[in-house]
Amino acid sequence: AAAEKGGFETFMRKEINEQPGAVADTLRGRIDETGQIVLDEVRMSDQDFRDIDKVFIIACGTSYHAGLVTKYAIEHWTRIPCEVELASEFRYRDPVLDRSTLVVAISQSGETMDTLMAVRHAKDQKARVLSISNTVGSTIPRESDAVLYTRAGIEVAVASTKAFLTQLAACYLVGLHLAQVRGIKYADEVSAVLDELVAAPGKIAKVIENLEPVREMARQCAALGTDRVLFIGRHVGYPVALEGALKLKELAYLHAEGFAAGELKHGPISLIEDGTPVIAIVPSPRGRSLLHDKIISNIQEVKARGAKVIAICEEGDRITAAHADFVFETPASPTLLSPLLTAVPLQEFAAELATALGRDIDQPRNLAKSVTVE
Ligand code: G6P
Repeated sequence: AAAEKGGFETFMRKEINEQPGAVADTLRGRIDETGQIVLDEVRMSDQDFRDIDKVFIIACGTSYHAGLVTKYAIEHWTRIPCEVELASEFRYRDPVLDRSTLVVAISQSGETMDTLMAVRHAKDQKARVLSISNTVGSTIPRESDAVLYTRAGIEVAVASTKAFLTQLAACYLVGLHLAQVRGIKYADEVSAVLDELVAAPGKIAKVIENLEPVREMARQCAALGTDRVLFIGRHVGYPVALEGALKLKELAYLHAEGFAAGELKHGPISLIEDGTPVIAIVPSPRGRSLLHDKIISNIQEVKARGAKVIAICEEGDRITAAHADFVFETPASPTLLSPLLTAVPLQEFAAELATALGRDIDQPRNLAKSVTVE
């Protein structure tokens, strides 16, 4: 078993480390020399993509968080309205769909019953279903009109890490492809983003090399007997906050919650006590500086109530460094792609905190890798 883990203590640690390669594999061969995205295996023509006037993303768990990130990207790059919904909710209501709706079903296993039922619900209404899955020949891809496979390799640990990053990569490809075939005015931006996407594996590797301070923070939280951790973010940092909190619930059995930072004042801020750790996902100070200013005020608000702020920010972000108690820097990246980098320290934080508490991080209690019942 030690050999299977490639020298790592756990599958989860091995899988976190495999992320740069998994993302690179998922991109490989899907962007040609001229910078066009080629998704031949998707079995949907350019015309099919041009006919789409609405996108619905359905998924569960971590895959749902990949979907939430994708909404920001698709709406920005293509101006096509995009909704994201938990599969278990989608299937029991009357979503408005038709032939020109693209339903994107994201499922690592391809076997999640809630997602499968949602796919059938969408197909009943004639929507076109494109699935993004890590498992070749699994049920959801088989029942979909088209499929784009992630190439994470087998993910053994129950808590998803490398599958999540490859789902993001695949979703970005779908979004950028939609933008390209529709010839939307963002052509320049799309090609710049593509270059950045290709550079992402190298940056993820850099993040992974420097995780020791995150582990140290996690061990401190465990030693202090931390009983809750809050995660805040805005824009794509919000789904990353949700994913960071999910990892901590899954692995450490701690009460962890992710919030849109703007919602703090509408309730969650009352959870903060002296010493409560708050992990803030801070957007780049470049470009969208308005968002950056907003999150700095949120950091000030929680600090004023005693929170201990751990910020995940872009390298060289001095403003955040001046306000947070601890900063973990990630390489510069376009905001929409930043989850590929900012999610990684949160995975490691949860793994280390859980390990310090003596949990089995590969096999957390009560959870299954693939949930094939409703
Ligand atoms: C289970 C797993 C999660 C996963 C979710 C959706 O809850 O423990 O890690 O995100 O199912 O799985 P799927 O295979 O559909 O992506």
